[in-house]
Amino acid sequence: IKVTVVDRNGKTHEIDAPTDMNMNIMELVRAYELAPEGTIGICGGMAMCASCQCYIETTDIELPEMSVEEEDMLDQAFYVKENSRLGCQIFLKDELDGLKVTLAPESE
Ligand code: FES
Repeated sequence: IKVTVVDRNGKTHEIDAPTDMNMNIMELVRAYELAPEGTIGICGGMAMCASCQCYIETTDIELPEMSVEEEDMLDQAFYVKENSRLGCQIFLKDELDGLKVTLAPESE
């Protein structure tokens, strides 16, 4: 599937993302080194750090529902917007073809 990621420098990356590896957006960003090591995926994808926060730019693609853990984490995170999600909670699936996300700023 095609996934577009805007990195923290505002650079756009179009990625041919695999759907057969049970990979999430955070892992995709790491695999393509779109954010420096140690600035994303700090909790390892447990919805406990928000370093993988991203803004969902597409409105026509249905995302999985937020879990209570994801909602709670976003309640405590910085730079949260209406369209914020945790990248580690969104797994690459055929339905997400065309998804576009912008990485949220790094929070201390
Ligand atoms: Fe920590 Fe997603 S990697 S919340």
